[in-house]
Amino acid sequence: MTTSAPRTPRALGGPAALERLLAEAEPLGRRADGGWDRPGFGPEEEALRALVVRQVEALGGRATLDRATNLWGWFTPPGPGALVLGSHLDSVPGGGPLDGPLGVFSALAAVGELLGRGWHPRRPLAIVAFRDEEGSRFGRACLGSRLLAGELSEADLAALRDAAGTSLKDLVAATGGDPDAVGPDPEALATIGTFLELHVEQGRALVHHRAPLGVARTIWPHARLRVELPGQANHAGTTPMHERSDPVVALARLVLAARSEAFARGAHATIGSIHVTPNATNAIARFVEAWVDVRAATEGALEALLEHVATVARRLNGSATEVSRTPTTTFDPAFAEQLAQLLSAPMIPTAAGHDAGILQHHGVRAGMLFVRNPTGISHAPEETASVEDRAVGVDALVRVIEELG
Ligand code: GLV
Ligand code: MN
Ligand code: MN
Repeated sequence: MTTSAPRTPRALGGPAALERLLAEAEPLGRRADGGWDRPGFGPEEEALRALVVRQVEALGGRATLDRATNLWGWFTPPGPGALVLGSHLDSVPGGGPLDGPLGVFSALAAVGELLGRGWHPRRPLAIVAFRDEEGSRFGRACLGSRLLAGELSEADLAALRDAAGTSLKDLVAATGGDPDAVGPDPEALATIGTFLELHVEQGRALVHHRAPLGVARTIWPHARLRVELPGQANHAGTTPMHERSDPVVALARLVLAARSEAFARGAHATIGSIHVTPNATNAIARFVEAWVDVRAATEGALEALLEHVATVARRLNGSATEVSRTPTTTFDPAFAEQLAQLLSAPMIPTAAGHDAGILQHHGVRAGMLFVRNPTGISHAPEETASVEDRAVGVDALVRVIEELG
C-alpha cells in the first residue's frame, strides 16, 4: 500500500538542494570573528526554522510543532510507525555550520529527491528539527528531545532560566507559541517508528577508515555539573595575598583536579563556561560559576569522576549540582547493522550527545550516520565536510528512505 504524498519538482531535492539550503543558512548567526551563534530559541534558530518550513512547504509537506516546540515536516498524514529523519538547528556559541543543520537539510534534500522522482512512501514519513539540542540556553543538553520524551517535570520546566533570567515559557511566548501548552508530547513520540539522524563527524575515525560515511554504534555516558565557588570580593591593590578568599584561585585548583582525574580514568572533563562575579580587573572576585562537562567510556568511570569533582568543589567551600545525566547509549544493534550493510559503512563509537540517543533511551528504534570531517574539529568554525561527502550523505538517506519508507 502506498500513502498519498505530494509530487514535487526534481530541482527541490538531492545534493544541490542541500548545498542551496546550507548557502541560505550561512549568514544566519555568522560572527565577524568566525563561527556561528545560533542559540536555542534565538532569532537565528527561528530564522533557520523558517527556512525549513519554506522547504517543507515547497515540497508539498505540512509543517507542525509538537508540544515540546520541536519542528516537524510531514510528507504523509502523521501516523504511527513513521520513518522520521532529522537533527537540530541550534549551535554552541561560536560553533560550526554543520553540527545540526547538516542532518535536517540532508533529510529535506533526500525526501525532495525521492518525491521529485514520483516515489510514494509506504509508511508515514517526516523530518524533524529538535529545539536547543546543544543546551547552551538553559544548560540542559538535548532539551527538545528530552522534553518531548517526558524527561522534564513541571517543576523542572518552571525552574529553567537562561543567563538573562528568562524562563522557557517566556521564550515560547516570545516566539509566538502558547506557553501553557509546552510539555511532553507522548502522542508525537509514539508516531516515531524509526528515527535516523545524519550528523557531521566530531572526530577523525572516518578519516582513518578512509570512508565518507559511518554508522553510530554507541555514545559515551555524559553529565553536566554546575559548580559554585564563593569568595570575598576585595581590592586588588590593598589586600595582602595571604588574606584573600579568591574563588578564581579555587577554580584553578578545581580545573587541574578535574583534568588529572579525567586523565587517570581515560575520561573527558571540560570546563568551558565560566562566570566570574563581578568580573573586574582590579577587584578580587566574589563568586565563580563554572560548568563541568564530564564524559567517560563507562558509567562507573563517569560516576567516579563526577564524585571526585564534587568532592573537590566542597573542599574548596563550594558546591556542585548535577544538571543533566545521560547513560551509555547503545543504538538499536539490528538497525545499525542494517545501515552498515546497506551503505557499506563502518561502525564507529562517539562521545558526543545527540537527540537520536535520547530517543533510543525512550524505546524508539534510532540510528545515526556520520559524514566524514577532515579536520575532526567540531563546536568550532573549523568543523567541515567536503561537498562530495555531503552528497554521499544525501544519497545514503535516499537509499535508507527507499528501503524503510
Ligand atoms: C553535543 O554536541 C554534545 O555532545 O555536547
Ligand atoms: Mn549535534
Ligand atoms: Mn553539538
